[in-house]
Amino acid sequence: MRRFVRELRAVVGPDGVLDEPGALVAFAADSKVRGMAPVAVALPTTTVQVQDIVRLCGRERTPIIPRGAGTGTVGGAVPECPALVLDLSRMNRILRIDENELLADAQPGVVTGEFQAAVEKVGLFYPPDPASAATSTLGGNAATGAGGLRAVKYGVTADWIASLEVVVADGQTIRTGTRTRKGVVGYDLTRLFIGSEGTLGVITELTLRLIPKPKAKATLLALFDELSQAGAATVAVLRSNITPAAMELMDQTALAAVQDHIGDLLPPNVCVLLIEVDGDADEVAKQANGIRELLQGVNAREVRVANNAQETQRLWSARRAISPALYEMRAQKFSEDVTVPISRIVDLIVGATKIAQQHKLVHASYGHAGDGNMHVNFLYDADNPDETRRADTAREELFRLTLSLGGTISGEHGVGVAKRPFIAWEQGPALLDLQRRLKRAFDPLNIFNPGKIFP
Ligand code: LAC
Ligand code: ZN
Repeated sequence: MRRFVRELRAVVGPDGVLDEPGALVAFAADSKVRGMAPVAVALPTTTVQVQDIVRLCGRERTPIIPRGAGTGTVGGAVPECPALVLDLSRMNRILRIDENELLADAQPGVVTGEFQAAVEKVGLFYPPDPASAATSTLGGNAATGAGGLRAVKYGVTADWIASLEVVVADGQTIRTGTRTRKGVVGYDLTRLFIGSEGTLGVITELTLRLIPKPKAKATLLALFDELSQAGAATVAVLRSNITPAAMELMDQTALAAVQDHIGDLLPPNVCVLLIEVDGDADEVAKQANGIRELLQGVNAREVRVANNAQETQRLWSARRAISPALYEMRAQKFSEDVTVPISRIVDLIVGATKIAQQHKLVHASYGHAGDGNMHVNFLYDADNPDETRRADTAREELFRLTLSLGGTISGEHGVGVAKRPFIAWEQGPALLDLQRRLKRAFDPLNIFNPGKIFP
């Protein structure tokens, strides 16, 4: 091991390797799953360094766990065996913003929110917007296939990646995709690497698509007495001729968790649809009015437009704060990202509530209702074995329900470790086998994030 660390230092420099036990523990977990501490952490700054590290690890048969900011929720970036964590946070440069082609090149460690701000400064827009954008990275978003808040109108991270530079298992660098708007030469390996959770290679550069920044936007807040009414209203909006940029649902428990942020803006015991529309100023006004009328016609107790920039900011930052804030209610939670066809969203919401009631669990549902993607959370205390067992069962029932509604057990967080036991509930043996063979073709020595995704 000493020699391995010495060789790593020779590649990335003395300050580019961590091997003190005290420093390594921070890499044993992501935002939810705890694994084990790595044997070392390497912090490369260039693609060439990543290539050298991959070759070294191949020779030593040391597993490599690529890691962005560690904001994942399924353990994708967490070691389960003695491994090297490849922390890409120092590869954090935006290389070029090409205003003519509406493309940008960036390294994987660029923080997504900082990238959004940088392109907006020159009048452009990068729509993917994971709730974790203030800390998560472009590389992590690509590796997990992250979704986020603006997918209703703009799609997910995968829809905005034109090309990837990837270091593959033999240490070579490949470039997938094209810089053109279209391109169908060969297999679509860009899509294959997106969401592959670090199991096929290391993303070392991304080419991202941009659009002109919408000139105006508005935030609407619709209050409902019942969660199912908010779900039905979501579907009504989706079936209308207005496509909001974002349409997020928050139930009573989710709102209680962020009470400190926005308690004074809301009456008690409501659930909320938080909607953003964007476009030209006149278009925004028209969309906001249209949605207001539509929601008033489907049982909204009240529909308001956010009064000013400060209120808008508070509402959206409260929405982003829900996931961490729920930990203040109970020490642990299952925080799922089940996704159903939009016509089944009410069945999912009502079903999740029933499951929670049956197992006497505190439960919150919130998230990307406009994508049929709900974050159903069952809260529990790991020191209470009975409650833990009930939460476990509830989670399994939620997955069964989701699949029975024609949905998927993960809309945006991925499989990692946390959902690995359930992947075969969704995908058949032939499909799983083909994916395992793909993994072997890309990574014959099984050094890239071994054991993840597939049981
Ligand atoms: C969110 C994360 C949990 O949307 O995906 O808050
Ligand atoms: Zn989400």
